[in-house]
Amino acid sequence: MQNKIIKIANDTNIFLKRFIKKQKKTELILPMSYGLFSGGKKIRSKILFDVGSIFNINYNILIKIGAAVECIHAYSLIHDDLPCMDNDAIRRGKPATHVKFGESTAVLAGNSLLTLAFEILSSREINLNERIKNNLINKISKCSGHLGIAGGQFLDLSFENKKVSKKKIVEMEIKKTGELFSFCCVAPLIVKNKDKLEIKLFEKIGLNIGLLFQVADDLIDYKGSSKLAGKKTRKDEKKGKATLISLMGYNNTVKYAEKLSFDLKKSLNKYGSKSKNLKETIDYILFRNR
Ligand code: IPE
Ligand code: IPE
Ligand code: MG
Ligand code: MG
Ligand code: MG
Repeated sequence: MQNKIIKIANDTNIFLKRFIKKQKKTELILPMSYGLFSGGKKIRSKILFDVGSIFNINYNILIKIGAAVECIHAYSLIHDDLPCMDNDAIRRGKPATHVKFGESTAVLAGNSLLTLAFEILSSREINLNERIKNNLINKISKCSGHLGIAGGQFLDLSFENKKVSKKKIVEMEIKKTGELFSFCCVAPLIVKNKDKLEIKLFEKIGLNIGLLFQVADDLIDYKGSSKLAGKKTRKDEKKGKATLISLMGYNNTVKYAEKLSFDLKKSLNKYGSKSKNLKETIDYILFRNR
């Protein structure tokens, strides 16, 4: 698992650096690169690779689609740390982008990373027919806007210091984090022109993997080491974030995550040994400390 994810991370970074290098140079490239290359896990690309291997998708196509996903993810983190959002100063063990470059530059670098994802997916680098490319762009757009990341981040902020039901917390976590994971799970099926029913199944699996990922992130915030996580921990409680932990306690949340992981792996059983990589990633997500 560790070797595979390191290779995926390296190949993704090589592609992104080459793509950016071909563009005309601007002063936003430095803060964009800072947010993009400062050492993320590239877990979303790993999921793309895991599902891609179930459906025999070409590795290089997956790296390029993953590169677009990582741009959107990097943008979402830059904005997440802004003073008007979570107001966090440390990300991936380094000063957050707005601390290093200033707030307005961080906003604009974030915007530029978001649009860079669409530039990549619509470019000639993605050697797929136009209809498939269009379907990928359509799906990733929906996962990033008001029905996805942005909408979920809005809920996250509006739920601060409020008593919120479990259903609403889960909806918020699925939007802010699950939707992009869902894109990673369906992109290989979109590439392979799979039928609607199977696409629906992988959409759901992706939403739940993302939910599991966010719940694990919340668990790390509660009990994890700030040094290992590369960001300050114990901050959700201070900010009055509505999480499953704030609603039902740490132990019940661990049980919730374990059940989610168990059910997810069960739903993959019909793919036999082909689902081994994805199951391994699901275990990693639950037991990670960063
Ligand atoms: C952090 O995401 C934000 C959440 C959605 C919980 P990651 O934990 O994937 O961040 P990096 O890219 O590895 O730093
Ligand atoms: C962020 O969730 C989710 C995003 C979509 C960016 P968090 O606010 O919990 O992420 P961290 O803990 O700051 O990385
Ligand atoms: Mg946040
Ligand atoms: Mg945050
Ligand atoms: Mg967090």
